[in-house]
Amino acid sequence: MSEKIIYLKEIDSTNVYADRLCRNGGEIPLAVVADSQTKGSGRMGRSFHSPKGTGIYMTYILDTENVETLNLITTSAGLAVAEVLEEYCSLVSSIKWPNDILLSSGKVCGILTRLITEEGKIKFALIGIGINVSGKKKDFPEEIKDVATTLEEETETIFDKNFLTQKIIENLNEIFINKKYTEKQIVENVKKHSAMLGKNVFVKSEDREFFAVDISSDGGLVVRDGEETKVIHSGEVEFS
Ligand code: BTN
Repeated sequence: MSEKIIYLKEIDSTNVYADRLCRNGGEIPLAVVADSQTKGSGRMGRSFHSPKGTGIYMTYILDTENVETLNLITTSAGLAVAEVLEEYCSLVSSIKWPNDILLSSGKVCGILTRLITEEGKIKFALIGIGINVSGKKKDFPEEIKDVATTLEEETETIFDKNFLTQKIIENLNEIFINKKYTEKQIVENVKKHSAMLGKNVFVKSEDREFFAVDISSDGGLVVRDGEETKVIHSGEVEFS
């Protein structure tokens, strides 16, 4: 895998750009980073607000050959971001299963992972990471004002985007390439950061409320309702 990072001023979506690169052959970079996105995408078909200069919009391209548990990819990426926010911004963040990073004033980061297959075999994971770095809550569009936040809002500090991007890429390398944690340790660390464990949650696919009790060994959210226990691997889960 190359060490090359592609920096773009503006792009539709770093995930889409990375997808095109993977499908067109040629040298695959380690990451694609953009200063702004015109069509930043989020989970469940939502868009990701990606204005110029205020956020980190990047896609880390992971060769999945040495990945044991594909389901753990997004969770591991969340952990990589949470660790960087802790070490370099002195922020204690929590992970809202499966892919949001929360600070006390709201969601600061979202992660969207796409798997790329070639001849029916999964070849790459495109890990799209969006972090709101500078600006204030009041600057957000009306529909996300109440839920989203920025590092600046939380700390009154404007962090260097390029520095944080570099540290996140380094930590992703440590986790995915250098295997600084076993999968068991990843799950343990994610549990320590979990925003959901011990809370009542609403599982949309089931259309009802459960109590979140654990993270499974493959990154699923283990929920309970009386005697019934389920492991949720995809879809939307909200705080009740
Ligand atoms: C979510 O919160 O639902 C996931 C948001 C993921 C946003 C990032 S920004 C970089 C990459 N490119 C995209 O179009 N989306 C991801």
